[in-house]
Amino acid sequence: MAITIFPVTPDFMAEIGDVDLSKPLSAEDRAAIKDAFIRYSVLVFPGQTLTSEQHIEFAHVFGPMEQNINTYADEVKKYRIDARIADVSNLGDENEILSKDSRKRMSGLANRLWHTDSIFRQVPALTSLLYARAIAPVGGRTEFADMRAAYEALPQTTKTRIDKLVVEHNIFHSRAKIGFKDFTEHERASLPSANQLMVRTIPETGRKNLYIASHAVRVQGMSDAESEALFQELAAHATQPQFVLSHRWRVGDLVMWDNRCTMHRGTEFDDLRYKRDMARATVSDIGNTVALSLK
Ligand code: OGA
Ligand code: MN
Repeated sequence: MAITIFPVTPDFMAEIGDVDLSKPLSAEDRAAIKDAFIRYSVLVFPGQTLTSEQHIEFAHVFGPMEQNINTYADEVKKYRIDARIADVSNLGDENEILSKDSRKRMSGLANRLWHTDSIFRQVPALTSLLYARAIAPVGGRTEFADMRAAYEALPQTTKTRIDKLVVEHNIFHSRAKIGFKDFTEHERASLPSANQLMVRTIPETGRKNLYIASHAVRVQGMSDAESEALFQELAAHATQPQFVLSHRWRVGDLVMWDNRCTMHRGTEFDDLRYKRDMARATVSDIGNTVALSLK
C-alpha cells in the first residue's frame, strides 16, 4: 500500500500515514516522502516504533548525518542514547530529570528561541528528524514557522534590502540570550561562527526564503545595533500567526522539517516535573550557503 498524505495546510505541514519507518522503504515510498518533504517542509509520521538504528537508517534516505557536538560537551561523561543522535531530552545519564542548574538543561532551554538547526555550522542542516520517546502530558509543543511564505509576504523594499546580505551565526550567541554563558574555551573553540546567506533559494523549487535564527550575531558590514534591529524586525515578521503551526506531540511521532526554509522552537513545559524524551537525527545540507552562491 502506498503512503497516505494528509496536508495540514495546502503547502505547510502534512501528516503521513500507511508507512512503517522501522522497515526499509520501497523506492516509490521514498520518492513520495521526498516530494512531500519539498512541498510541505514539515512532515509528521505518527505511531512509529523505532530503535536508534532504524531512526538513523531513515535519516540516511535524505543524506549523510552531521556529527553531534554539544555546547555542554565537556560535561558529558557518557551518552544516554546512541551518540550519533542528539539527545533533546530533559534527562541525565540515569534517566533522571535534570536539575535546575544543569548545563544540559540550560542548553535545552535555548531551543525555546526561534531557530533553525545548525545554521551556525559551516555546513548547516538539511533536515532534522525528531522522534518522541516520552512527552509531557501538558505543554512542550513544537512550533514551526514557514520562512518561504514569510519571505514572500515581505515588502519589495525589504526584499531588495536583504537580498545579498551575509550573516554571521554562533550558537553561543543564542545561549547568551537566555543567560547561559559559562562555557569552556574548548567548548567555544569546537563551535566557531559560520557565515550564511540571509535569503536562500531551495534548489528543488527555485523558491526563495528567509534564513535567520536566534544564533544570528551580525550582518557582514553592518553595525551590531543595526544588525540586531534588522534581525528583530525580520523574526517578528516571520513568526506572525499566519506563518506558524504548532505540533502537539504523541509518543511515537517522528516529525521531520526542512531546516533550509523553516524556523522552529520548543514551547514551555514543566521540565522539573515531567520527563520529555526526544531524539534527533540530523542530516547535513550539501554545503555552506555563501560558498554555494559563489559557484
Ligand atoms: C530540536 C529542537 C524543540 C523541541 O530538536 O532541534 O529545537 O520542542 N527541539 O524539542
Ligand atoms: Mn532545533
